Amino acid sequence: MTSKKRKHKRSKGALLIRRIAIVATLLLVLFLLGRLILILMNLVGREQEDVVTINLTTEPMEIFVPEQTTEITTEASTEANNSTEASNSNEIPSDANVTTESITDVSENLTTESSTRSNQTLSFNHIAYYIESRASRYSEHASKHPLKSDEQIVLEVNMNHDFSFYDNIQPAVMPNDLLVLCNKYYKLDASFTPTDLVDVKEGYYVNDGKTYKLASSAHDAFVKMADAAKEEGLNLKIISAYRTNSFQANLYEKYKDRNGQTAADRFSARPGHSEHETGLAIDINDVSSAFENTAEFKWLQNNAHKYGFILRYPKNSEHITGYMYESWHYRYVGETLATELVSADITFDAYHATVLYERYE
Ligand code: DAL
Ligand code: ZN
Repeated sequence: MTSKKRKHKRSKGALLIRRIAIVATLLLVLFLLGRLILILMNLVGREQEDVVTINLTTEPMEIFVPEQTTEITTEASTEANNSTEASNSNEIPSDANVTTESITDVSENLTTESSTRSNQTLSFNHIAYYIESRASRYSEHASKHPLKSDEQIVLEVNMNHDFSFYDNIQPAVMPNDLLVLCNKYYKLDASFTPTDLVDVKEGYYVNDGKTYKLASSAHDAFVKMADAAKEEGLNLKIISAYRTNSFQANLYEKYKDRNGQTAADRFSARPGHSEHETGLAIDINDVSSAFENTAEFKWLQNNAHKYGFILRYPKNSEHITGYMYESWHYRYVGETLATELVSADITFDAYHATVLYERYE
């Protein structure tokens, strides 16, 4: 074989090897691509499974969330509490911010539905605060919330939370009692007037040319509390006390007209539903979120219960109390109960639903 022929044969062989290498590389690339596609499909499939699992195991949260968020900018806040209330109508909270932040606060504090409720027989009489006459309401509420614990079901129904706020309104029980409950489910009669109202002592209310009234027990306790704060260089003054039903009605209407009902309902009670009508509630110093940042507020946090007062509408409790956080609004309940509520860290509404409920039946 001539050298020319040998050379030609070698280059033909090299060409063949190159072709085989190209085909092999192509096959390898195709194989790897196929594997990659399979892995991706697997991943997507798993994510979809996760979504389905979450949807199946999570009930929609039920909270009181306003349909709209409204920034409420208001004028100065004071109010009259006597027969001249119609002419003293500039009593607008100076700074009630219905913001996204406060809505988040509410949802953060939701009681998480636990998966511990195994009792599907819908029997609740093992719960300490079970009320026989509400048996069917417990069952119905539980069937709507299968993941809630038995305790939670009974507590919520006892607080009437199987109804929306202002649905299923009952007359307030024993309105002249120190522990009267007045909220969005319990209403005072329009003609109700506390029997033991006294004028708030001069020097213990803001100097705005108005006079204020309170139930005598709440008044005396406030005087003691303000005197104790004074000794530490702090000033506590009443800026709102007893309100008549008609005063509250005017106030609420004013807020409703200006801010809309949904927003107004978060910080103002409808007539008959305000604790101020009991003579046992007070607003202190400044009806504004700024009050939270004062030394007076900090002092109240540590001491109010010692004088029988509780912060009635605490942070993160709107789904229970029906009202956004009010750092300035205090309710007199007496020293023993105030101390108990603070140490148990429960609202007055929950205390009624678990301890005082027997008075209702
Ligand atoms: N601001 C409270 C809820 C009232 O109107 O009584
Ligand atoms: Zn108030």
